[in-house]
Amino acid sequence: MKKLIEEKDGKLYYNGYCLVDLAKRFGTPLTITFLDVIKERILSLKDAFLKSKNEVNYDGNFYYLNANKANYGKDEIESAFIYSDGLETSSFYDLVLSLKMYEKYPEFKDKLIVCNGLKPDDYLDAIALAHSKGYNIITIIDDIYEYEYLKKKDINLRIGFRIHLSSLYEPEVKDDRFGLMDDEINYILDDVKNTKLILDTIHYHQRGFDFEEDKFFKNFDIAFAYYIKAKKLYDSVKYFDFGGGTPLPIEGEYDYDAYTKAILAHVKDLCIKNDVKQPDLIGENGKYSQKDSTVNIYKVVGTKNTGQYPWYIVDSSLLIAMPEMYALGEPILVKPINNLNEKMVEARLAGITCDCDDVYFDKEKGYFLIPECDDDYIALLGTGSYQNSMNGKGGVHHCMLPEEKDVIIYNKNGTELVKVRKELQTIENIYDLLNIKH
Ligand SMILES: Cc1ncc(COP(=O)(O)O)c(C=O)c1O
Repeated sequence: MKKLIEEKDGKLYYNGYCLVDLAKRFGTPLTITFLDVIKERILSLKDAFLKSKNEVNYDGNFYYLNANKANYGKDEIESAFIYSDGLETSSFYDLVLSLKMYEKYPEFKDKLIVCNGLKPDDYLDAIALAHSKGYNIITIIDDIYEYEYLKKKDINLRIGFRIHLSSLYEPEVKDDRFGLMDDEINYILDDVKNTKLILDTIHYHQRGFDFEEDKFFKNFDIAFAYYIKAKKLYDSVKYFDFGGGTPLPIEGEYDYDAYTKAILAHVKDLCIKNDVKQPDLIGENGKYSQKDSTVNIYKVVGTKNTGQYPWYIVDSSLLIAMPEMYALGEPILVKPINNLNEKMVEARLAGITCDCDDVYFDKEKGYFLIPECDDDYIALLGTGSYQNSMNGKGGVHHCMLPEEKDVIIYNKNGTELVKVRKELQTIENIYDLLNIKH
């Protein structure tokens, strides 16, 4: 897998681009998304699965779905859609957006659409409509209400069910409201034969941790027992969907060959022991391909001394740029990007908002190392997943700071293309959003 971060001549490069050059070319505050990172991640995971499938002689396929919830950017979903095997949706609105993508690319009509999340009637009706139009759509039942509602439609809709696995997630810390309980699953397994619904997918989602091998296989085995049970009852069962949570390469290093091989060998072994056919596996990946596609770049616009460490103040809000880090402790790399051969100073970063929580430093060390220079820039590396949906992209932000300029870079037929998706937000735009006359 391509190594994204490099340092040369005192400057930080990301995905082959000198970040300070990009800052000077487009101006700051700036968000840059490299669509090719999304493509590369998807293709390399699919390659690793294919290689491992051949090595372990696995008798099924792997389908890569893009979990749209990670980033609702049209360009990001489109890039993922082209190279993946389908989309995973989490709401009615997400499904509507996904279907627009399928309409744009009729040649991909057969790619999967897997519908997750709790489903009110509008979502269920839209699923049934998409099915009637010939889309390759699977509804993952998350609540018995959904099952009963779809049953009444009396159509050959393909369904799966999500398994509730909260007991293994240190319940007091991370209770999980998703999925069906054992008795609900047994009810469906008993009842579905009396309906027109077709059971073809068994699903669980790891949630919350990035591939801790012990936990992964412990949960996997509990969930997989439902595949074995369902497969013995219904030949229509063919997919085992293990959700998201694919590990990210730390600084470019992660052995995806070993990861995919371990999963396929494990599933094969379980199937042989239990005398069931090996399923097609589905992965619903969000963070894995989206997170590292985006970086934010800021200029240090002032310094202040009010305590043990000097404050280096950047020209945007750190809190807006990485809400997941502040709210959920999600790690995001923050680094100076120029003057890296100069003397470093122990400092703390602050956004230019009037918000005392809009600060950043290494929690263990208590400071952030930054060159002691007048023209410093910093970057946040890996803000491409979940930040946009948490920070209200396109809206009004705290202290009415303008949303930063939004640029995408990608390759088309070997030519590099750059598109400014949005200029720096204007005061008029902010007033319009607030319904203020100007
Ligand atoms: C059902 C389901 N699938 C996939 C994902 C994507 O997970 P990740 O972004 O860790 O790959 C999520 C994330 O919440 C999810 O709830």
